[in-house]
Amino acid sequence: MSVLSIQNLSKSYGKIQALNNLSLEINEGEVYGILGPNGSGKTTTLGVILGILHADSGSYQWFDGRYGKGHRKRIGAILETPNFYPYKTAEDNLSIISHIKGVKTNNYDQLLELVNLAHRKKSAFRTYSLGMKQRLAIAATMIGDPDVIIFDEPTNGLDPQGIAEVRQTLTEIAASGKTVIMASHILDEVEKICSHVAIIKNGNLLATGSVGSILSEDVTIELQAEDMSALQNLIESVPWMSKSKIIADRLEVQMENSHSVAEINKLAFDRGVTLTHLVARKQRLEEEFLEITK
Ligand SMILES: Nc1ncnc2c1ncn2[C@@H]1O[C@H](COP(=O)(O)OP(=O)(O)OP(=O)(O)O)[C@@H](O)[C@H]1O
Ligand SMILES: [Mg+2]
Repeated sequence: MSVLSIQNLSKSYGKIQALNNLSLEINEGEVYGILGPNGSGKTTTLGVILGILHADSGSYQWFDGRYGKGHRKRIGAILETPNFYPYKTAEDNLSIISHIKGVKTNNYDQLLELVNLAHRKKSAFRTYSLGMKQRLAIAATMIGDPDVIIFDEPTNGLDPQGIAEVRQTLTEIAASGKTVIMASHILDEVEKICSHVAIIKNGNLLATGSVGSILSEDVTIELQAEDMSALQNLIESVPWMSKSKIIADRLEVQMENSHSVAEINKLAFDRGVTLTHLVARKQRLEEEFLEITK
């Protein structure tokens, strides 16, 4: 089920083109990472889909338009750290936000439990560490039990311990079946938390797909042979190829990146398997990403 569909969004700030014909599809239950270096247009994208910024052209639909303008109530988002009251407790701050959102909630304990702040719920916000503040912000997005949660760089500025805690919280939220959309410039973070990813640079979409297919070290190979069962037997006998699945009339396998397509070709030839199709896809996008983010 589609949660968000974006078609050909473009946006410039004066001479700077922040988004260039960007299209994305996000489905229910995905943990979707928008990954790109600084200035690639992540925050701009989130601003547009949240209705905070106007795009120059293009369009987007939330939930296939099922809820009309009511879609906004189904989305929890923090673009920046929200304005909490420094002298009020976590509980009081969440209660104020509920009031602003017009949501009747009193299960703050459960929310604070989720973000691991229950033990500090009576402390004033100003006494929190940066990581705790960030986790309270996450709790705030969960008020009203939204279907979709949006985060912009959720671990920015945190130390390794804080990062680990925020990641753990996000993973738990994702496991509860909510759709999570997060912007990040950190490859490792997207790999650890997300199920799907879109890589953007200069407002252009470079690649999108499941994290396994896009960021994996392995190379995906499409194969077809005259004798498909002989091909399958061959693949199973090779230790550096794995996870074969049949898509239409082709076999898709993962190959360790230390091996090459030429090796497969030779192997098939030696075993008398005639290949009619052999294509490597998704070549080392990770390297490409690291290159552009340098
Ligand atoms: N209000 C603004 N006025 C002018 N230029 C802007 C404005 N906001 C963003 N930009 C520019 O648009 C481009 C995209 O910015 P954006 O904030 O969307 O990138 P980002 O991917 O979120 O970057 P970061 O990782 O640094 O948060 C950048 O070149 C940025 O300088
Ligand atoms: Mg940003």
